Amino acid sequence: MKTSTNSQKQQWNSSEWAGVASVWVLAEAAVAKLSRVFLWGPPGVGKSYLASRAGSSPVQVTLAEDLTVQELMGHWVPDRVEWHFHLGPVSRAYQEGRVLVLNEIGRASGSVQDFLLGVLDDRDVASLALPNGELLTPAEGFKVVGTSNSSPDQLDPALRSRFEAEIHLPVPNVTLVEELDRRCQGLGGALADSYLDPERALDPRRVMSFINLVCDAVPSRQAALLTLAERAPDFLAALQARGVRLPCDTF
Ligand SMILES: Nc1ncnc2c1ncn2[C@@H]1O[C@H](COP(=O)(O)OP(=O)(O)OP(=O)(O)O)[C@@H](O)[C@H]1O
Ligand SMILES: [Mg+2]
Repeated sequence: MKTSTNSQKQQWNSSEWAGVASVWVLAEAAVAKLSRVFLWGPPGVGKSYLASRAGSSPVQVTLAEDLTVQELMGHWVPDRVEWHFHLGPVSRAYQEGRVLVLNEIGRASGSVQDFLLGVLDDRDVASLALPNGELLTPAEGFKVVGTSNSSPDQLDPALRSRFEAEIHLPVPNVTLVEELDRRCQGLGGALADSYLDPERALDPRRVMSFINLVCDAVPSRQAALLTLAERAPDFLAALQARGVRLPCDTF
């Protein structure tokens, strides 16, 4: 993966980078073809972005310890004199045959994880008994993409086994790198290179915010300080060393 130059500076070997980045092609194919896929990797690399493109109008939900089964499944709400049942994100995705993106699935409470065991069952056995007495079976098109920053080892084994594929995405997605390069030639490469050493990896969201600020006429030093804090000097030096010319700015 790593190559050394005379200056001991390590850079991606472009063909090896293409090899690592190709996991995104696999991930895209898996999400398109399979019904239950688990994507994991560092923050900001584009997992949710990919999942959200798996079908038209996906239903996204970010799980947390205090999120309840009722919030996911649906609940009764008073409406003047009557009570109405409001579908939750899971029952809506079930009923409408949409892609359900479960972000940070490992952070769900024990009871939500138990509930998800049924949601992630095979289509022919999965059914959802709603508190209003309805029994929902997943409509054509329903699929689940789970995302997480931590390895699937952290998942409950029964939940883990319900996913048909688990894909590690350790580097930013290629289209994100290309998009950055389109906005500022060399910036995407600088982001990609930073993943050579996971400890030094730049957060893609911050790099995106940096270029947004620079394009909004914020001087690069200030933009880098605002977005990358103590890593700003190294980041700017790396851009300069790579000959990156920021739009509307001088170093
Ligand atoms: N191909 C892309 N083109 C343009 N923007 C992108 C692309 N991929 C991701 N992004 C943007 O990058 C940001 C981070 O992407 P995303 O939220 O998918 O990351 P993530 O891997 O799910 O991160 P986390 O683990 O923190 O949830 C988002 O603002 C997203 O819109
Ligand atoms: Mg995400």
